[in-house]
Amino acid sequence: MHQTLPALYQSFGKRHDSLIPILQGIQNKLKYIPKEAISIIANELSMYESDIYGVITFYTQFRLSPVGQHIIKVCKGTACHVGGAETVGEAVSEMLQISKNETSRGNKFTLEYVACLGCCSLAPVMMIDDKVYAHLTKEKIKKILEEY
Ligand code: FES
Repeated sequence: MHQTLPALYQSFGKRHDSLIPILQGIQNKLKYIPKEAISIIANELSMYESDIYGVITFYTQFRLSPVGQHIIKVCKGTACHVGGAETVGEAVSEMLQISKNETSRGNKFTLEYVACLGCCSLAPVMMIDDKVYAHLTKEKIKKILEEY
């Protein structure tokens, strides 16, 4: 992270309006925002740590804890809910023995729920990293998870 921050300051500057791109840069690199990064950024941008926490907790895109190698996003939006999102979430939880926002053994998967993935006609859907999986059933989910 000590190598990441100077590059981000160089790209976005050490201004208050650089905060979000800097946080996104850290998260892209580490998949979460470590506490030590918040202290360093607060010092560099002359901001209060509490203000930075406020931004991080306002936006759901930011995480404050480490995640697994792959992030599963199960859609809980209206179309997916009608199409069986509950079953999808339960199936993933059961197969990986984790609940929402938990990481599986061996740090392989972290399970998250999201409001809509923007592909409602494919409901019910989930994403693993950047790949969308559509029209899910328990059987499909099992095969998908075995691919990883
Ligand atoms: S509601 Fe699931 S993708 Fe939109």
